[in-house]
Amino acid sequence: MARALPQWFTQAGLEEMAHDFSLQEGFVATVGEGIVGFITYESLAPGLAELSWMGVRPEYQGRGVGKRLLQLAEERLIAQGIRVLEVSTVADSVAYEPYARTRAFYRANGFRDYRVDRGYFPNGDDRLLLRKQVG
Ligand SMILES: CC(C)(COP(=O)(O)OP(=O)(O)OC[C@H]1O[C@@H](n2cnc3c(N)ncnc32)[C@H](O)[C@@H]1OP(=O)(O)O)[C@@H](O)C(=O)NCCC(=O)NCCS
Repeated sequence: MARALPQWFTQAGLEEMAHDFSLQEGFVATVGEGIVGFITYESLAPGLAELSWMGVRPEYQGRGVGKRLLQLAEERLIAQGIRVLEVSTVADSVAYEPYARTRAFYRANGFRDYRVDRGYFPNGDDRLLLRKQVG
């Protein structure tokens, strides 16, 4: 499914994702037999977790699937004692529209900008770290 989102996930990203999926928890959204969305997360420290990967099939975006997946992940994490959820994405300094939409989704869903790390990604792009108080 992640291959259906090439504007967001590179080959290297897909490989990293395959590795992470074997170790991390998450949820999928299904329609009939098909997966239309996914979310994964991992605990980083007591009370702190990271939302690692998330995606919704293009034709199902904008219909509340991402919001519902995030809600489920938050409920599970709160039950595990997590109070803060963080997520990394490409910073506003990078002029690339698909990630502007990703940032808008996180900001519309309670995440607040926490820190920018200059030149964090291998291609030199800046990283934006966002955080949300969940518990
Ligand atoms: C980001 C993504 C997971 C969001 O899932 P989605 O199902 O499209 O989002 P939803 O329909 O659940 O949107 C939930 C809320 O976010 C808001 N939102 C979503 N996209 C937005 C955008 N581009 N601009 C502003 N707000 C946005 C919606 O308005 C909605 O708010 P509402 O409930 O008040 O109406 C999905 O668009 C996606 O797969 N993007 C590509 C991959 C990606 O960016 N992954 C994250 C990085 S790993």
